Order: sequence, then C-alpha cells, then structure tokens
Amino acid sequence: MLNWREADFSAYTSTIAYPSKEEEERQKEAMHTAEGLVADLTAKLGHAPSCCVVTFGCQMNARDSEKIQGVLECVGFTATESEEADLVIYNTCTVRDNANQRVYGRLGHLKSMKQKNPEKRIALCGCMIQEPDVIEKLKTSYRFVDLLFGTHNIYKFPELLCKLLTKNTEDRMLIDVWKSTDAIVEDLPVVRKYPFKSGVNIMFGCDNFCTYCIVPYVRGRERSRSSREILQEVEKLAADGVVEVMLLGQNVNSYGNGLPGELTFPELLQEVEKVDGIKRIRFMTSHPKDLSDELIAVMRDSKKICRHLHLPVQSGSTEVLRKMNRRYTREQYLELVAKLRREIPDLSLTTDIIVGFPGETKEDLQQTIDLVNEVKYDNAYTFIYSPRTGTPAASYPKTMTEEEIKEGFDELLKAVQKNAQEAVLRLEGRTEEVLVEEINTHDPGLMTGRLSNNVLVHFPGDESMIGKFYTVKLTENHGFYYIGEKV
Ligand code: 5AD
Ligand code: SF4
Repeated sequence: MLNWREADFSAYTSTIAYPSKEEEERQKEAMHTAEGLVADLTAKLGHAPSCCVVTFGCQMNARDSEKIQGVLECVGFTATESEEADLVIYNTCTVRDNANQRVYGRLGHLKSMKQKNPEKRIALCGCMIQEPDVIEKLKTSYRFVDLLFGTHNIYKFPELLCKLLTKNTEDRMLIDVWKSTDAIVEDLPVVRKYPFKSGVNIMFGCDNFCTYCIVPYVRGRERSRSSREILQEVEKLAADGVVEVMLLGQNVNSYGNGLPGELTFPELLQEVEKVDGIKRIRFMTSHPKDLSDELIAVMRDSKKICRHLHLPVQSGSTEVLRKMNRRYTREQYLELVAKLRREIPDLSLTTDIIVGFPGETKEDLQQTIDLVNEVKYDNAYTFIYSPRTGTPAASYPKTMTEEEIKEGFDELLKAVQKNAQEAVLRLEGRTEEVLVEEINTHDPGLMTGRLSNNVLVHFPGDESMIGKFYTVKLTENHGFYYIGEKV
C-alpha cells in the first residue's frame, strides 16, 4: 500500500497555485465554454442534461457540493436527486473506511446505469480521491468512471467540466488531483440547498495531526480566508434572504493563525453578529485545546450565536488522549466544560467519541463512559476506530478484541442516549423560538424546525413558514425531538 508522506502524485498532479483573481477569471471563462457545450448536449439529447451531486461526510463536503451544484446549474444542467442523471458526481469522504466502502458499493449500480445511457458521465471528487491507493483501485477496477478530482482544486471545476463534456466514454479516465494548494479562490457560483441558511467556509485544512485522522493529509495545511472576504460573503447571503450562517472550519478556534493582523475567531464572530438580517450564527468545529475565554465571553454576550457547541472529546482517558495527540487531558476538558456551563448555563453540548483506538483498554473506555455521564452531553457521535493508511495510529498495536470494542461501544451508546433523552426532557413545556426548515418527511401537515440549541421540533403549519421564526410551546417530548404548537 502507498504511504501518504512518500506518495508521488506527480503523475496526475500539478501544484501550481494561481493568484486567486486571475484564477477566478479563468474559471469564469471556462463557464462560458461549458455553457456552449451543455447547449450542444441539450440539442443532442432533446432536453437539458440532468445532474445529481451526492454528498458523503461532513459540512465541509456539503458546502463544496453546493459550489459544484452552483456551477452545474449556471451552465444549464437540471438538478435531480436520481442517480439515473446524465452526470453523477460523488463528493466523497474518507474519514473512516466504511465511508469508502459505501462509495465502492454504489459505484457498482452506476456502472449498470451507464451501460444503458452512453451519454452518462460519472465523476468522483473529495477526500477519498486524495488517497493514492484509492486512485489506483479506481483506475484498475472502476474504469467506467470519467473524472477524478480532489479537494484542493475544486475551484477548477468549471475547467474540469469542460474536459468531461468533451470526453468520449471510452477515453481514459481524467485525473486531476493536487497534493496541496495555497490558493483560495473566492466568488464561484453556489446553489444553496436551503434558501434561508448557509455554511460559510472560514478556513480550510487542519494542522493538528491527531494520530487517527486523515483530514490533514487529504485537506492539507490550515489556511484561513480573509475576514473581509468572509464578511462580504455573509453580507451577500443576508441580502439574499439567509438568516442563519454556520461558520465552517476543521478547527475554527485557530482562525486567523498565519495571517498577520487578521481578526481572531471571537472577533470575527462579533463582526458577523453586526450583519443585519443574520439572526442565528453557528460554527463547527471547535478543538478543546484552543477554546479561549474570549470566545466563551463572546458567546455568552451574543444575541445571535446559537446555544450549541460541538466540542469533540474523542476519549475520556488522558492516556488515550495523549496517544491521539489531542493535547489536553481529561481534567482540562472537564474544567473547560465547567467554565462553559458556568458562563452559559443553557448551552447544549455535543461531542465526537472514538472507541477502540489502539492502546485503549476497557478501563480507558470506562473513563469515557464516566465522562459522558458527568458532562451530560445533549448528543454524541460515536465511532469505532478505523485505521487510515499513512496516519501514525495505523501502525499502533491493537489492545482490545473486536468483541470487547463492540461491547464497550454498545455500553457507551446507552449512556449517550440516556443523557440525550434527559437533556431533551429538560425543555418540556418551555416556549422557544424555532426556525422552520422544511415540511416534515412523515406528516405533511407538520413543519420541522430547530431551536437555537439544535433540538428538532415539529409543529402544525404549512410551506409558507419555511425560513421564518415562530414561537412554539414544546408540548410532547418524543425522546430526541418535540411536537409543539405555535403560540
Ligand atoms: N476512526 C474513527 N473515527 C474517526 N474520526 C476521525 N478519524 C477517525 C478514525 N480514523 C472521527 C472523530 C472526528 C469525527 C469527525 O470523526 O471523532 O471528530
Ligand atoms: Fe482531524 Fe484532529 Fe484536525 Fe479534527 S483536529 S480534523 S480530528 S486532525
């Protein structure tokens, strides 16, 4: 298997980073060309070609998919959720191996669809494509895929699309994967999934190198966007009807590092708060080691920052945290939580936890379960450790058996669910503000929305309420969500 650090991408990569304004112009030109190519294809097919962008993984990928979708719709594609579409793009995730396996599984179905539709094109992008052994596997066993591109050159998508549209099915797979880039290209078109809320990238990449994590290898070094560009984007979104923004970065607390004179993350939040029209501000993800008192104070005093913090702990054992290179101890994490609870009593806390990390013992896992019961998280995402090629932990020896891991995982899940239900129960009977997001998927007479602390609420209403705020009494507790009534 190829190793990350030694991997030679030169066969399919270039690392030239264009100055971003110049690159923006280049891509805009490519969009004109793509528009012409789509018009030709429309004439050939007798209808506008359809496209389906499927997102795997995190909020970052969701935002990237909105950019891809933006370009496609701008040049004349019709969006659909069906993978029968003329162009299917999988925006992949590789944080755990099961994400990769899902992609390989679904590609099998695409192959048979492509045999029926010779004009069909298939592209893969995102984190998985940054792995050299994945590229090799796709080249040998999935030759029907037309285009591969990675995370660093997504802004080149208009240009790549032109190549894809002029490629014959039988031509060799197009591969454009970069090892890294410093370029941040602003201003490509975006189609938002929701008209009233939007993610906003504030930084890309990660420098933390937690020993289990592939993100620093597939997303590259940490780079922050300038606050001027970010605020301009937020203002534009607000003018366009967006009321909720989610500031996105792998570690938002280190925003601005490496940009001399740039705002800190708490200062950036204060500036976003000043934007008229924005009513709710969320952000993701906070590394506990960098969460400052300044941030806690800004959250406490803010009228717009939501009462929810995602604070991944990963493990409740100091020894495991050390092996994970998390750079905080169990005690430091608990102290931080105590401070947050003191300053912002109604804050909802969620977390990520990994079970079965190499070196973890049953006693370590018990410490994690105890920590969950102590912190009383509103929710936790629990994962079984998945070795990722090239990360340091992939070569660490395993300690627990599969059986022990499974048992420990189930026990942890029970603790998580018990605490989550108790957290939701505490809201019963309260009257809260809800931002309506969509029609309930099971009952069209109900609308689904979220509280500031992220809890879901369903209450009677109609489509015209989407994107608006309502005061709702939380009447029926259903374990993880509420049925409410408008007051
Ligand atoms: N195995 C299992 N879980 C992982 N995560 C990241 N890398 C791995 C891995 N190799 C989890 C962490 C992170 C979340 C996004 O995914 O908990 O916070
Ligand atoms: Fe991965 Fe750690 Fe960076 Fe999060 S902070 S993306 S877990 S390396």
